[in-house]
Amino acid sequence: MTAGPDLDLVSPPTPADGLLPDQWYIARRSSDLGTVPQTVLLGGTEIGLWRDERGDVHAQPARTCEERDGYLWVWTGAEAPSSGPLAIADPFQGRGVWVRLTQRVKAGFLDSVENTVDLIHPLFAHPWTHPLWWAHRLGIQASMRVVITPDALGWTAEGFMWGRRIMWQEVRLPDRVRLLLLPDTALATDAFVHHVPETPAMTRFEILLGRRCAPWERPGATDGPQAWLLHRQDRVILEALQRCRTRHGPVAECHARADAYTLLFRRIFRLAQEGRWQREWSRHSTQREVVVRV
Ligand SMILES: [Fe+2]
Repeated sequence: MTAGPDLDLVSPPTPADGLLPDQWYIARRSSDLGTVPQTVLLGGTEIGLWRDERGDVHAQPARTCEERDGYLWVWTGAEAPSSGPLAIADPFQGRGVWVRLTQRVKAGFLDSVENTVDLIHPLFAHPWTHPLWWAHRLGIQASMRVVITPDALGWTAEGFMWGRRIMWQEVRLPDRVRLLLLPDTALATDAFVHHVPETPAMTRFEILLGRRCAPWERPGATDGPQAWLLHRQDRVILEALQRCRTRHGPVAECHARADAYTLLFRRIFRLAQEGRWQREWSRHSTQREVVVRV
């Protein structure tokens, strides 16, 4: 792994590491919202949300809301936003099938994002459900070269194995991690995960999974009943970490140099909290290469 000086180790998460001001967060899936008011937790604040007879959304206390890509988004700024929520790009040009899943995890927001970003955690966290776990189990020797390019909204990363591009990752402030696997093939699968900080120790995962539809399938998105086993496995590891943090405090965290890739999000998030990332990102924009070995 190569790491620049700005990837020096950073301090553990605190309860303040949650909601960023002037950002859009997913409050609910659009289809979940009806005329009966629902309480949504966002950064520890309760917001009541409901639709009127015309279908318009209302919030109490008042918040700017927008429906887009099957979700209801809430703006955290005091001033009106200059643009809507970041669009969810469709790599299948309208020929994909998508499913939306929601899962609550008793863990902090930063831990949740860092776990999703971490390219190695499937080796131990996703038995039976993840190709990397199988590769490791079967003793397949492989390494993936990941090129990371920071930008104003976070970073993008491309992963190469055997000379082919097998992964495209996009990390977007405040809470989005997208992973497009086998992007240049008909077998491409896309996963958007938003990590909504409900409280300092509760994060709501809004997961959107897509693939190209088969000839007999109708393209479109549906709401899934519950998270898949793969996602429930993340809950196990994250909730164990949260219990460890509660019991032992900051000493629960001990980094190795190889953690620098996942800690990059924490560094960007901290700079964004101070309003500095958008101004200073170009100073950090050196491309980095990470080699991931299975
Ligand atoms: Fe995972």
